[in-house]
Amino acid sequence: LPKLTLNRPIVLIGLMGAGKTTIGKKLAHYLSVPFIDSDYEIEKTAGCTIADIFEQYGENEFRRLEHQVMRRLVGQSPAILATGGGAFMHEQTRNLLKEKATTIWLHCDVDTILDRISHHTHRPLLNSGDKREILLNLMDKRYPVYAKADWIISCQHNQIETTLTQILFLLD
Ligand code: S3P
Repeated sequence: LPKLTLNRPIVLIGLMGAGKTTIGKKLAHYLSVPFIDSDYEIEKTAGCTIADIFEQYGENEFRRLEHQVMRRLVGQSPAILATGGGAFMHEQTRNLLKEKATTIWLHCDVDTILDRISHHTHRPLLNSGDKREILLNLMDKRYPVYAKADWIISCQHNQIETTLTQILFLLD
């Protein structure tokens, strides 16, 4: 594959466990640009964990903070940006990302996600009940909105390399 030059940031969207961080890091490495994880940037800005923000201030406050951080991050071109699973659901954030970045939805089925997140406890949205049920519910609500991304790439189990190649081809 030829080397590419990015003229705008690439933003990976998708549910938790879709592979945004894993794919994002590899992509950034390949393209020799920084990888930025918006959840991590939010935690740095807030000085506490995302779970703490949800617990102490609620989801709305988290979304507000996320938007602020995202506004700062999309100004830093070129970079690969992984967003939290809910970022693109927030209308203002979605409009910002659509305007300033190339958005790629990493599309995933529920079993792949369950496999990837089964040992994680730091995702507040999944801690309140049956994970499969919560995920299926989130998929119902979110997939029609995620479909507004510029590109949709499938990212199933053990397909990380294929996914990466597909992204590099579509950016070319
Ligand atoms: C969220 C996903 C998380 C994090 C927060 C909310 C969501 O990010 O932003 O817990 O609404 O789906 P990941 O997608 O990186 O797990």
